[in-house]
Amino acid sequence: MVVENDKTMAIRTSDDVVRVRQAVRARAVEAGFGIVDQTKLVTAASEIARNTVDYGGGGTLRLEIVREGSRRGVQLTFCDNGPGIADIQTAMTDGYTTGGGLGLGLSGAKRLSNEFSIESAPGEGTTVTLARWKL
Ligand SMILES: Nc1ncnc2c1ncn2[C@@H]1O[C@H](COP(=O)(O)OP(=O)(O)OP(=O)(O)O)[C@@H](O)[C@H]1O
Ligand SMILES: [Mg+2]
Repeated sequence: MVVENDKTMAIRTSDDVVRVRQAVRARAVEAGFGIVDQTKLVTAASEIARNTVDYGGGGTLRLEIVREGSRRGVQLTFCDNGPGIADIQTAMTDGYTTGGGLGLGLSGAKRLSNEFSIESAPGEGTTVTLARWKL
């Protein structure tokens, strides 16, 4: 996979979540995504950025336009140094929340992505990587 373009931004506040949405939309347009694919990626990014603020104590997003052969996509890597997630499988379950949300953010973001992975452990922070390819 070749990285064509990359940028890192801070995610600490709700305003940063808005900026993440705008930046992801712009990258998706650059990568040639149609409106439906743009919106799927922006929605996934918004959920993970929100978690980064709410649970991770803030963090960063790395946005990349990637190419694999003739396929182009957008890869997003969210990193925080918060408390981490003890049981990733349970956290991914629809309806599971420790924060009084709907518990649909992680599972929804996974469904909206073509690739999705979480690396996390208690005390080690959380890294969520997701990608969507132009269809
Ligand atoms: N970056 C993170 N650091 C620590 N814990 C996290 C992080 N992201 C998610 N979690 C944990 O995983 C749970 C599920 O996250 P998810 O986004 O699916 O639901 P939610 O944020 O609780 O509700 P919703 O997103 O539907 O409003 C959270 O309640 C939290 O316990
Ligand atoms: Mg959430």
